[in-house]
Amino acid sequence: MYSSIFGGIVLDPIMMMIPIDDHMVHRGHGVFDTAIIFDGFLYGLDAHLDRFLRSASVAKISPPFPLSTLRSILIQLTAKSKCKNGTLRYWLSAGPGNFSLSSSGCPTTAFYAIVIKHDFSLWKEGVKVITSSIPMKTPLFATTKSVNYLPNVLAQLEAEEKKAFASIWVDDEGYIAEGPNMNVAFVNHERELVIPKFDKILAGCTENRLVELAPKLIDKGHLKAVRTADTSIEEAKAAAEMMFVGSSLPIAPIIMWDGKPIGN
Ligand SMILES: Cc1ncc(COP(=O)(O)O)c(C=O)c1O
Repeated sequence: MYSSIFGGIVLDPIMMMIPIDDHMVHRGHGVFDTAIIFDGFLYGLDAHLDRFLRSASVAKISPPFPLSTLRSILIQLTAKSKCKNGTLRYWLSAGPGNFSLSSSGCPTTAFYAIVIKHDFSLWKEGVKVITSSIPMKTPLFATTKSVNYLPNVLAQLEAEEKKAFASIWVDDEGYIAEGPNMNVAFVNHERELVIPKFDKILAGCTENRLVELAPKLIDKGHLKAVRTADTSIEEAKAAAEMMFVGSSLPIAPIIMWDGKPIGN
C-alpha cells in the first residue's frame, strides 16, 4: 500500500490503514479508480488517471501531487508489489482532519493506493444476470467514480441473493445502463457491436478500449459496425451476444438474463 499520510509504501498488512478522521471514511468524500495489472503490465493507466482527475474535480478534491508524481507512485508501488496479475486501486480523499461534513478543516488531501492479486481467467464460461430493482444514481453521481457505492453494493447483493453473477441497471427511460461495477456491450443480429451511451453511467476505460480495438474485428469480417446507442431492455434481451466489460473482468460473456438465455 502507498499512503501519502506515511509518505511512502508499506508492505506489512498491519500498516495498511486509513485514519478514522479521514473524510473519505466518515463522509464518503473521496474518489477512486482501478487499473488492471496483466502479465506484469499496467493496462490503460493513463486513461484511468484522466478519469480519476475528472472525478476529483467534481468532488472538489485537489490531488496532493501533480499527475506525473501520482503516476510515478503507482508504477513504483506496482513494481514493489511483484504482482503480475491483479488490480491497482487508488483513492484521492479530502484527507484527515476532523469529523465535520465540510473538508475546510482538513490540512491536506490524501492519496492512497493498493495492489490486489486477482485471477482474470474466471469468467470464460459465461455468467447469469438479473435486472436490478435498486434505483440508479443520478447522472452527476453515476458519471463520477466516488467512493459512494452503496447503490452498487445493494445491486450486487440483490444479484447474489438471486444466484446471479451481477445485476443490470435500466435507466428511467427504459434503456440499458450498466452493471454495479462494469459496463455492458451487445452484439445484435446485424453483427453490430452496440455500446450504451456514457451520459448517465460511468465512462468505462475498458469499454473505450473495446471500441478502439473492435474495428479489427470489422476488418476480419466478424462484425459489421461498432456504434453507441440507446438500447431498450427488449432489444438487449434479444441480442445475439451480450457481455460485461470492465477492469474487474475485463470481459465476461452474459449467457442468461432474468432466467432467459441470451442468443444461443
Ligand atoms: C459503476 C461502474 N461502471 C463501469 C465500470 C467499468 O469501468 P472500467 O472499464 O474503467 O473499469 C466500473 C468500474 O470501474 C464501475 O464501477
